[in-house]
Amino acid sequence: MSAGQFPYVRMRRLRREGIRQLLSSVSVRPSSLMYPVFVDERLREKQPIQSMPGQFRYSIGDIPALCEEMERCGIGAAMVFGLPETKDDSGSGAYGKDGIVQKAVRAIKENSSIAVATDLCMCEYTPHGHCGIVKGGSVDNDATLEIYGRIAVSQAAAGADIVAPSGMMDGQVASIRKALDAEGFTDTAILAYSAKAASSFYGPFREAAESSPSFGDRRTYQLNFASGTEHIREIELDIAEGADIVMVKPALTALDMVRRARELFNVPVAAYNVSGEYSMVKAAALNGWIDYRGAVTEILTSIFRAGADMVVTYHALEVAGWMKGEVV
Ligand code: PBG
Repeated sequence: MSAGQFPYVRMRRLRREGIRQLLSSVSVRPSSLMYPVFVDERLREKQPIQSMPGQFRYSIGDIPALCEEMERCGIGAAMVFGLPETKDDSGSGAYGKDGIVQKAVRAIKENSSIAVATDLCMCEYTPHGHCGIVKGGSVDNDATLEIYGRIAVSQAAAGADIVAPSGMMDGQVASIRKALDAEGFTDTAILAYSAKAASSFYGPFREAAESSPSFGDRRTYQLNFASGTEHIREIELDIAEGADIVMVKPALTALDMVRRARELFNVPVAAYNVSGEYSMVKAAALNGWIDYRGAVTEILTSIFRAGADMVVTYHALEVAGWMKGEVV
């Protein structure tokens, strides 16, 4: 302590056991977590995802047991991704009435009362793995919007509470809102992947979802992580187009954007704690280099502290299980 200073500032007074919990103004609640669920049309039973230890691709038949687990943990919502049996250039597997996502949504709704969000994109459904219609070697924005509208309507018709467009096409939120409203799905909410950067941290997901682009990369549509103004402008536009919830992705490399979104806009903010962020922690833990439970709790707390209202995370079931006193 510096001499002569009075009253002494002793921060450690509040760090004593029994007092420190009073200062925990941020906590992780299972009901604010969304769990990504990969459903694969070709499977008869769930398969582990190599690049994401502890995560699975599920078959439709696994959905009832998964629903039971999600409900027991009290997580807030499932975010459904589909792997179709066949892919084609118009991504038709994404909008068929009996597409894999549509079937999965119906199965979750039949087996639980969990809220269901659906990822709305084409990359898992096209042979080239891009998020839209490819014409002349590049992704055609406006042709893609038309397909996104169809996907949205089919997902809403299957029972999705929330559709979550992740393809980063310009105008996607407005055209999806229009398509939904035209079909009477005025209550289906849009969670927009608004500030989604072209990131190296999606690698494990692309293995899981078999959605790597076969040529080029996604930098002509996903935003530049080095540009803060682009993040904010994307969020601003999505709100103007009618997004109900905006999302920042990845989370850990963009906590500053989560904070800015929280301060600038009066809409719910989600953050996506992506596959690479999950796998880094998991790999270190499996090597005995990091305390998994401590690290995950700290990471998720930091995303909420930055200002997120909800977090999409592969850790959701484990974390919610710990909070219920289960040892996972
Ligand atoms: C689909 C989509 C991706 C992710 C969510 N939706 C992949 C991508 O943009 O390449 C990534 C999620 C993750 O890494 O956990 N466009």
